[in-house]
Amino acid sequence: MRAIQAAAFGEPEVLKLLTVPDPVPGPGEVRVRLHAAGVNPADTYVRSGTYAFFKPPLPYTPGFDGAGTVEALGSGVTRLKVGERVYVAALLGKVCTGTYAEAVVCDADSVHPLAGALSFAQGAALGVPYATAYRALFQKAALKPAEAVLVHGASGGVGIAALQMARAHGARVIGTAGTEAGRRLVREQGAHHVLDHTAPDYLAAVAGLTEGRGVDVVIEMLANVNLEKDLGVLAKFGRVVVVGSRGAVEITPRLTMGRESSILGTALWNASAAEMADACAAIAAGAEAGVLNPVVGRELPLAEAPRAHVDVMKAGAHGKLVLVM
Ligand SMILES: NC(=O)c1ccc[n+]([C@@H]2O[C@H](COP(=O)([O-])OP(=O)(O)OC[C@H]3O[C@@H](n4cnc5c(N)ncnc54)[C@H](OP(=O)(O)O)[C@@H]3O)[C@@H](O)[C@H]2O)c1
Repeated sequence: MRAIQAAAFGEPEVLKLLTVPDPVPGPGEVRVRLHAAGVNPADTYVRSGTYAFFKPPLPYTPGFDGAGTVEALGSGVTRLKVGERVYVAALLGKVCTGTYAEAVVCDADSVHPLAGALSFAQGAALGVPYATAYRALFQKAALKPAEAVLVHGASGGVGIAALQMARAHGARVIGTAGTEAGRRLVREQGAHHVLDHTAPDYLAAVAGLTEGRGVDVVIEMLANVNLEKDLGVLAKFGRVVVVGSRGAVEITPRLTMGRESSILGTALWNASAAEMADACAAIAAGAEAGVLNPVVGRELPLAEAPRAHVDVMKAGAHGKLVLVM
């Protein structure tokens, strides 16, 4: 099969397209013939070799997310059938040979039926983004229906997932994006209000949009830029969940006192097997009901994985970037 492999950590150019043998599933494992792989910012951190959560032995094939059809079952796997359409969410699996490839072997627990209405590219957009959004909204912020949520950075993979989930749960949703196309997308995906996170003083509108209360929850994609501002727009007992941050920030702790607000960090890497199973069950239910519907902004051929790693870190997100086989 064709697969992307890196023989060293470093810049995107370490990602090479090679021909390698098909991986063989062991007991409890599954081989999925992939049609698409999701490209996550975390894949670039792993590639750099400096990621705190994961440093694979070299050479390695990147990618935790993908979608395709079940091709071979290891002994003891009874839940899946050969030929079944599935998506792969293997970030927390014991075994994953990497989804930037024409086939992947991973634990059966990382393989889930793909709702009939979703394409393979959409299936590849589910794993990390939707499980992260679920964890942030429900396992960390304990979002309740009728609460107000600011998805601060709603135009990318996690943001759109958070927006769709919060909407389906009955929350009032404010989403932000940095481009006109991104804001149009956020509006189309169901945000009640859309703000431009590049405009001066854009969060001043939040008070008017929430009858002066502020938002109960902020799902934050760039905390090093926004955390201080987030604390200022929270309602009493509000929660900020830090999903993404790329540097340091100075905050005024006093802002948390009067409102008794909380800053909660999250990393999907810390989810227990039970929490991940809950997230996957909720994602499956939402996808079947049609309320969770990943937006694939761009598809690139597998060979263009180096370019995908450059582009996934650029501003101007528009849904999910996916590699197609
Ligand atoms: N904690 C976890 O477990 C976990 C899991 C997955 C991802 N993450 C992290 O979460 C972040 C988002 O991941 P993703 O997959 O959604 O990436 P993505 O698809 O590249 O989206 C990035 C998002 O950040 C937004 N953004 C850019 N500048 C912003 C600003 N000043 N204020 C608010 N938002 C801003 C972008 O908006 P525009 O492009 O429209 O400006 C876009 O919506 C990344 O840093 C990623 O590493 C963390």
